[in-house]
Amino acid sequence: MLRLAALLLMVATAAGAAEIDVIPRPASVAAGVGAGLRLDGGTAIRTPPGDAGAAQVAGQLATLLDLPAGGRHGGDAVVFVRDIVPGGDEAYRVIVADHRTTITAATDAGLRYGAVTLWQLATAGDRPARGSVVPPVTIVDAPRFAWRGLLLDSARHFQSTDFIRRTIDWMMWHKLNVLQWHLTDDQGWRLEIKAYPRLAAVGGFRTERDGRRYGGYYTQAEVRGLVAYAAARGVTIVPEIEMPGHALAAIRANPQIGFAGVGAEAAGDWGIFPSIYRTDDATFAFLTTVLGEVVDLFPSRFVAIGGDEAVKTAWHADPATQARMRTAGIADETALQAAFVRRIGDFINARGRRLIGWDEILDGGLPATDAVLSWHGADGALVAARAGHDVVMATAPTLYFDNRQSTLPTEPPGRGTVVTLADVYAYDPGAPPLPAGTPNTPVGETERAHILGVQANLWTEHMPTEADVERMALPRAAALAEIGWTTARRRDWADFVTRLPAQLARYRRLGLGADDGAVGVDIDARRDGATVAVRLADQLGYPIRYTTDGAMPGSASPLATASVTIPLGTTIRAASFAAGRAVSPVTTRTLDDAALRFRASQQLTPCSERVVLNLAGQGGPFLTDIMDACWRWPAADLDGIGAIGVGVAVLPFNFQLGDQASRVTLRPPATPGGEVVVRLDDCAGPVVAKLPLADVRAGVVTPLTAPLAATGRHDLCLAMTGRTADPLHVLAWVRLGPTT
Ligand code: ACM
Repeated sequence: MLRLAALLLMVATAAGAAEIDVIPRPASVAAGVGAGLRLDGGTAIRTPPGDAGAAQVAGQLATLLDLPAGGRHGGDAVVFVRDIVPGGDEAYRVIVADHRTTITAATDAGLRYGAVTLWQLATAGDRPARGSVVPPVTIVDAPRFAWRGLLLDSARHFQSTDFIRRTIDWMMWHKLNVLQWHLTDDQGWRLEIKAYPRLAAVGGFRTERDGRRYGGYYTQAEVRGLVAYAAARGVTIVPEIEMPGHALAAIRANPQIGFAGVGAEAAGDWGIFPSIYRTDDATFAFLTTVLGEVVDLFPSRFVAIGGDEAVKTAWHADPATQARMRTAGIADETALQAAFVRRIGDFINARGRRLIGWDEILDGGLPATDAVLSWHGADGALVAARAGHDVVMATAPTLYFDNRQSTLPTEPPGRGTVVTLADVYAYDPGAPPLPAGTPNTPVGETERAHILGVQANLWTEHMPTEADVERMALPRAAALAEIGWTTARRRDWADFVTRLPAQLARYRRLGLGADDGAVGVDIDARRDGATVAVRLADQLGYPIRYTTDGAMPGSASPLATASVTIPLGTTIRAASFAAGRAVSPVTTRTLDDAALRFRASQQLTPCSERVVLNLAGQGGPFLTDIMDACWRWPAADLDGIGAIGVGVAVLPFNFQLGDQASRVTLRPPATPGGEVVVRLDDCAGPVVAKLPLADVRAGVVTPLTAPLAATGRHDLCLAMTGRTADPLHVLAWVRLGPTT
């Protein structure tokens, strides 16, 4: 008896938390007994006869496990079983027992999630699936939310169909099941429409401020291929066709349907455009013809129509629009947008679909069957749920994956707000905080039942490349997956952190480029005479190992303590480790005077937090507040300093700011070209250096230097002066030195 108990304990430990490297965390996990499942060339994968859905999933599992598809004899077996598993349409059960594993579900989706879970069990730790032995275990699992979404913005920047397939693949591996595809916006129309070929042929291309042509679109044949590819992986593509605003590309192609508000030179700008569709019958005929083709292409239950950030000044100023409003008894432009959305919704409903839009569509009222994407925070979600609307939580900034993941200079371009992996994990889509002013009104079960799920948005204004988009998505998609799938009770950050290294290893093995912001080692160093005090840290608190002898850090290298003291000029190499393996790339830094006196823009602090962006560009990205070009270097050591150098880039100010344009902080220049003004202690302190911008050239980072005489530790404030916001001068870096 004692021996049996000890044996059970041993097995339970072997299949305990550390071994269940499954993300998202399953609803229930129970260790089993016996030999488990050996995965090798002899492993058979069996499906019920004539079950095409199970056969498709079996093929996907064989690919993931790197095993030959179909039945073999003599080895262990994975058997797919069709049966009801409690927990809804996506529920599944995996039982790994002696030499035989069953994956049971009623639906293809359930079977697929069971297969993904088995693959993750087989790749626990950092091992390839083939040749592994999965310990015995029983997992019964089902998702918390039905909508586990990701938005991909293919309008601002265009991605290849190969990239979208690859994204759908990893969505499946994360048990994410909705891809909201943002196909149209001011900057581009990306969907071929047979009735209006100019939409893609003209609206799909733009000329940037620097004269470059940019564009592309998806043919209907490509779209059908992607929809089928996604469906085979349990992912529903929800098309998003923006209206009534975010419509410049369509209006450029077909001027009669809208008010452009800006000229063609602005087609590549970012921000909120004054462009808006008209509200006459001809425009509705146009839009419903477009949506007719859209519903024919996309079988999704929902059709997204945007509805956000519609600037209605053109409606207000247009006599014909005002006359129509009077005739229809529509009081104001907000009510006009509501009527617009209702008319489009009637068409979508008549085609058997449901409308979903951003939370601005709540303004002016909305039929209860329409669903809302809540991006403004929890208040809107509560208002929507109380009014009977289904809601998808897509709250900014936490679920806006265009925000950077850390302050490391190696982050890809994006928005400047830092949204860490932990921030995403801490977000609970099922518990929006109480709205301001009604602390005694709890969120009721009725409201909660309206929360369809959660979605992260990959807006791509500032992510020009596919590699950028992938890095912004990963590994935060792992946290998104868990907040969408796992119940609040089962969610556990510390446990997630122990499961993450296996997930990062899977990304590496699959060739996915995940970001290093969560695990990368940040080096903070301070000179102290002939030595340097170094603090090494990563966001997740994994142990950090380092070397100072030129070797790569390994599992036997010294562990970094709170502060490591090394001689000035030493090269330090550091990486974070889990279970004896590096989980981050190696950070290498030679800590000599030059390195200690250098800051990239990401290592400076913007003077204000208005619209902070990590802007792409040659020699970038550049962290800047586009409303206020000003940076601080806190507590700079100025002893022995005789000069300051800065790297400056010049970019077009390609932002549509509407009535915010006049709020850009402009500091009067002393010379016609403006200068970088350096002040001591704060931004109203004494000027200690001025670096004229006259010689700054486009397309490069131009180095400038000036004498700077001061001693001691001071905050430095570096601000651009200039008469206009355009062009935008940004700091790439700052360097202090003994002489110019
Ligand atoms: C949005 O970010 N405009 C939905």
